[in-house]
Amino acid sequence: MIPMSLSQIAALTGGRLHGISEQEASALVVDGPVVTDSREAGPGGLYVARVGESMDGHQFVGSARDAGAVAALTTREVDDLPCVVVDDIQDGFVALARGVLQAHPEITVIGITGSSGKTSTKDLLASVLSAAGPTVAPVGSLNSEVGVPLTVCRIVGDTRYLVVEMGARGVGHIEYLADIAEPTIGIVLNVGTAHVGEFGSREAIGRAKAELVAALPDGGLAVLNADDPVVRAMVGQTAARALLVGASHEAGLRATDIDLDGAGRPSFTVSGDGVEAETRVSLPLHGEHHVGNALAVIAVALECGMAMGDIAEALADARPASRWRMEVTERADGVTIINDAYNANPDSMRAALNALVAMGRGRRTWAVLGSMLELGDESTTEHDAIGRLAVRLNVSRLVVVGDTARPMASGAQHEGSWGDEAVWVPDADAAYELLSRELSAGDVVLFKSSRDAGLRWLGDRLAGLSAPNSMEDAT
Ligand SMILES: Nc1ncnc2c1ncn2[C@@H]1O[C@H](COP(=O)(O)OP(=O)(O)OP(=O)(O)O)[C@@H](O)[C@H]1O
Ligand SMILES: [Mg+2]
Repeated sequence: MIPMSLSQIAALTGGRLHGISEQEASALVVDGPVVTDSREAGPGGLYVARVGESMDGHQFVGSARDAGAVAALTTREVDDLPCVVVDDIQDGFVALARGVLQAHPEITVIGITGSSGKTSTKDLLASVLSAAGPTVAPVGSLNSEVGVPLTVCRIVGDTRYLVVEMGARGVGHIEYLADIAEPTIGIVLNVGTAHVGEFGSREAIGRAKAELVAALPDGGLAVLNADDPVVRAMVGQTAARALLVGASHEAGLRATDIDLDGAGRPSFTVSGDGVEAETRVSLPLHGEHHVGNALAVIAVALECGMAMGDIAEALADARPASRWRMEVTERADGVTIINDAYNANPDSMRAALNALVAMGRGRRTWAVLGSMLELGDESTTEHDAIGRLAVRLNVSRLVVVGDTARPMASGAQHEGSWGDEAVWVPDADAAYELLSRELSAGDVVLFKSSRDAGLRWLGDRLAGLSAPNSMEDAT
C-alpha cells in the first residue's frame, strides 16, 4: 500500500486507536500488504479482521503479527497488534480504499464487468498497460466487495493504472464497487445468463452491469460490446463517451478477418477510432471469444495513449495469467489438454466448445463437461442445449460429469448422438477411469464446469500437472 500512518488510517476510517498512543500512531507507518487473510500478511502490512460465517478474523490477529503485519483494522479491541477499531469492518475497509485512491488522483482506474471474461480481460489489459506504466490488477478473480478494496489497497507510489474486476450477484453491487474505485474508464463485455438464478432475468443482469457505465464521469470512456444487444443499448446510459467495439458494422473499433490457427488462437484486423492504419493482431490465447476481450483492451490502451503497434506487440506477448482458463498443455504422447474448468456458464461453454472444435480439426475431440451452477429454473434447458450443441459441432466424445449436468447427456442423445459418443459418469473419478483407458495420441480434451475443483484437478492430473496448491483462485 502507499505509505500511511496509523493515525491517517484511523482518520480515514473513523476508527479509534487501541493499544497505541496518538503520538506513536502518527509515527507508525503502514506500507506493506493490506490483507484479510492472515496467511498473506507481510512486513509493514495491515490486517483487516473480518467476521465470516464460520470464522472470526479477530482470532488471527496474532498470526498476522507473526507474519509481519504492524497493525489491524478490527471491530473490537485485540491486544496482539495496535488496532484501529471501527463500528463496521466493511465500511471501514471501503473508507480506507477510497482514501488510498483519493490520495492518488493521477492513477487511471479502469473497471471491467460482464457475465464472462472479466478475469481473462483483466489479465490481458494488465499485461498490455504494463508496457505503458506500472499497473495494479487483481490477483486471480478478486471482484467482490472485499476483492475490490483489497486490490485498491495494493497501489504503490508509482502506480499509473489500476484495473478493477467488478462482479455482481445482484442489482446495486456494481454501483457499490464503482463507488469505491471510481473508474473513469469502464468495460462491459457481455450480458449473459450467468447467475440468472440470483438475478431473476437477463434484463436484471443487464441493469446491474449498466451500473458501471452509469457511474462513469463526463470525460470518461465507456467501452461497450457492439455485438451484444443488451450491452450496445447502454450507450445512452452514461455521461462518458461511449465506444462500441466488436465485429459488427456499428462498432467504432472493429475486428475484421478473424481467423483461428490450428491451435485455436485468433488473429484479426483492427480498424476504427484511434487506429491510424489497420493493424493485424495475433493473440496467444485460445478461442475466438478472446477477440472481443482483446478489442476492449485495445480501446482502453488507445485511450491511455498507447500506439496501436505497441498494443499489438504487447497483446502478442500476453500469457495466460490466471489458471484454468483455456489452459493448454501438450502431453508428450500428443494428447492436448484444455483445462477451462475455472468456471462455466452457457456462453462460456459455447465459446469453449467452439474453441475445442477449432483446435481439434482433423483430430478426435473430447468434451468433459460438468455442471453450470446458478441457472435457476433454466438449468435443465441450458444443460440440454449444451449437449445438443456438442453434437451439432461434431465433438467426437462427450463425457458428462455429475448429476446436475446429466441433461447434457440426454440432450446429446436427443440430438442424434449414439453409442458411447455421449456418456454420463457420476463423478470426476469415474471420468478419470474412462479417460485414462480411452485417450490416445492426437486427442484433444476440453475440461469445463462451474467451480468444480474435481474437474480442474482431473484436467491437471491428466495433463501431468500437480494438484493445485494455491488459494489464488479460491474466490
Ligand atoms: N468474452 C467471452 N465470452 C464468453 N466466454 C468467455 C469470454 N471470455 C472468457 N470466456 C470464458 O469464460 C470463462 C470464465 O472466464 P473468466 O474467468 O475470465 O470470467 P469472469 O467473468 O472473470 O468469471 P467470474 O464471474 O467467475 O469471475 C472461461 O472459461 C473463459 O475461457
Ligand atoms: Mg473473474
